[in-house]
Amino acid sequence: MKNIMVTGGAGFIGSNFVHYMLGKYDNYNIIVYDKLTYAGNLDNLRDVVDDPRYHFVKGDICDATTVEETIRKYQIDTIVNFAAETHVDRSIMNPDAFIQTSVYGTYVLLEATRKFGLERFHQISTDEVYGHIPHGRSSVETDKLEPRSPYAASKASADLLVNAYFVTYGLPVTITRGSNNIGPYQYPEKVVPLFATNAIDYEPLPVYGDGRQMREYQYVQDHCEAIDIVLHKGQLGEAYNVGTGEEMENLKMVEILLETLDRPRSLIRHVKDRPGHDRRYSMNSDKVKALGWQPRHTPEEAIRKTAEWYRDNEWWWRKIKSGEFKKYYEAQYGERLRETTNPAK
Ligand code: NAD
Ligand code: DAU
Repeated sequence: MKNIMVTGGAGFIGSNFVHYMLGKYDNYNIIVYDKLTYAGNLDNLRDVVDDPRYHFVKGDICDATTVEETIRKYQIDTIVNFAAETHVDRSIMNPDAFIQTSVYGTYVLLEATRKFGLERFHQISTDEVYGHIPHGRSSVETDKLEPRSPYAASKASADLLVNAYFVTYGLPVTITRGSNNIGPYQYPEKVVPLFATNAIDYEPLPVYGDGRQMREYQYVQDHCEAIDIVLHKGQLGEAYNVGTGEEMENLKMVEILLETLDRPRSLIRHVKDRPGHDRRYSMNSDKVKALGWQPRHTPEEAIRKTAEWYRDNEWWWRKIKSGEFKKYYEAQYGERLRETTNPAK
């Protein structure tokens, strides 16, 4: 492994992965390939622009010509595919781009991997492919995929394609399925950065339904470390769950966040729930732990550290929240917030 193409590398996890890999290894070149959708942001990579091992290509993973040109030009041997539309609520409003990128785009990358005989194709997947998990159970990698939102279905479809290319063509593939990541550079449509930035401005926090849904919030650098371990030690054709093993109710996450930012509970608003909302995700991550991985942060530490980052980095998020985001916020929350008159006690 020498020249790694990081698709979606200008997004949240991808950009953290780029920082992680350049920081850890001297001898890898990192080629970020990103379409720069609303979620892609070159500010996320401004710390590495002068590094001679870093290169940026603006391109769509659905565009086979540009993908192939990039592989040739930079002698790519490994693809790590982060590129996707990633917000469940947007997938409910308009699923089209989700299917295009995660299904057709993943197919284009797999075909390119086959054509050029690359050393590895690694797919970044999610715990959402398993669907809602009842209490008392945790997903293992061999469980049936039962996605329930258009986003989750687009990601599960990509996993199935990756597996099919392993079985049919013997492609050297691996998959990691991560739980909810939080940390620097996450677009403030996702719950933790949305609530942190709203709280900083004393704006309401729109909690869906009763707020008792459970997620495994994990610090993004821990996830990046697991991806690195799977790239180096993972078995071809295998998927690996990556989570903390500690799920937390959303209301508890909100409490930690408000306490960290010294903001009142009266900012909480219970609003109309997300349609088809998965109440609980929970994964067994023993398989990646057996490769030597351990999360370095508890969910509580991850939430506190993330809230502090947003408090200290207004330069990054204020400009995002003042642009296209305002229209999105009104479409997603305007009605819901106007319907809600009673702040939580
Ligand atoms: P993000 O939305 O912050 O970033 C996605 C990036 O992909 C953006 O830079 C965007 O410009 C790029 N992109 C989108 N469509 C593209 C296309 N057609 N061609 C090229 N680039 C394109 O997402 P994220 O939260 O960093 O998630 C990255 C990956 O990790 C996704 O595959 C997601 O499904 C997966 N994942 C995310 C989480 C999480 O909690 N955020 C957890 C598990 C897995
Ligand atoms: O589990 C991994 C997944 O985590 C990733 O695959 C997705 O890309 C990522 O977006 C995330 O999906 P979620 O739907 O879990 O994340 P989100 O931040 O949108 O929501 C987290 C929880 O908070 C969920 O139970 C819904 C709730 N929520 C979310 C928003 C945006 C609210 O209560 N209010 C909100 O305004």
